[in-house]
Amino acid sequence: MADAAPVDDLVVEDLHVRYGKVAAVNGVSLKVRRGAVVAVLGANGAGKSSTLNAIAGNLRASISGRVTLLGGAVAGLRAHAIVQKGMALVPEGREIIAPLTVEENLLLAGYGGRAGSEEPRLLADVYDMFPILSERRHTPGGMLSGGEQQMLAFGRIIMVNPQVVLMDEPSMGLSPRMVDFIMRSIRKISQRGLTILLVEQNANAALQIADYVYVLDRGRVVQEGAAADLRSDTGIAETFLGLKSHAPA
Ligand SMILES: Nc1ncnc2c1ncn2[C@@H]1O[C@H](COP(=O)(O)OP(=O)(O)OP(=O)(O)O)[C@@H](O)[C@H]1O
Ligand SMILES: [Mg+2]
Repeated sequence: MADAAPVDDLVVEDLHVRYGKVAAVNGVSLKVRRGAVVAVLGANGAGKSSTLNAIAGNLRASISGRVTLLGGAVAGLRAHAIVQKGMALVPEGREIIAPLTVEENLLLAGYGGRAGSEEPRLLADVYDMFPILSERRHTPGGMLSGGEQQMLAFGRIIMVNPQVVLMDEPSMGLSPRMVDFIMRSIRKISQRGLTILLVEQNANAALQIADYVYVLDRGRVVQEGAAADLRSDTGIAETFLGLKSHAPA
């Protein structure tokens, strides 16, 4: 049998976000194909979080545009309803619940999501992917290191059992070694069959794992293309992302 035509799990068309007089997102359109890791790159204030939060129904601001998740329109729905339809957000800053243990954080996430009877299997998968979370399952989330908290944030998303995951700057505040680990973890999450839209200021890190990339500047997509092509285009990297090409030290 021939391969089925590729499916876009998430389509965003002409998204605008305004906070009063501040226009944060000015007509962003993007697509995320099933099973892909798509990265949105951009500097501070480019509109990355506004874009993700608007897609996730997480923003109380003036929003317009079309968002299609798994073939159905979701623009205007509340975050909880969008989670039930199969999309979940790992927010900037991780937002784990500090006084609750690792395991309580995971179980609570599962409760709000679509895990149902699959919860024990999903919990085992999380501990399999991040053994350190299993070792620390009775530790309050607030006592984990930044990297461990990011693992916990990913674990919470796996417990929600979505098809599409939005991730807001998972590398933020982590050591280079931990950034590498977190990026490899995103690949593993992708290999579970999930579709990922990743927002990053750390373009180098995101370009290592992304299939396709959008570059955002002042609320607009100024460049897009296969990650492999952008990796080799140092002009773009320097102009929009503040990256220098890799010169040997
Ligand atoms: N609640 C808000 N009220 C007013 N302006 C806001 C609000 N949130 C964001 N902005 C403005 O909207 C623009 C885009 O912000 P946003 O947080 O989406 O950018 P970002 O790309 O995620 O930046 P960062 O990399 O720093 O997280 C910025 O000019 C910011 O100051
Ligand atoms: Mg942000």
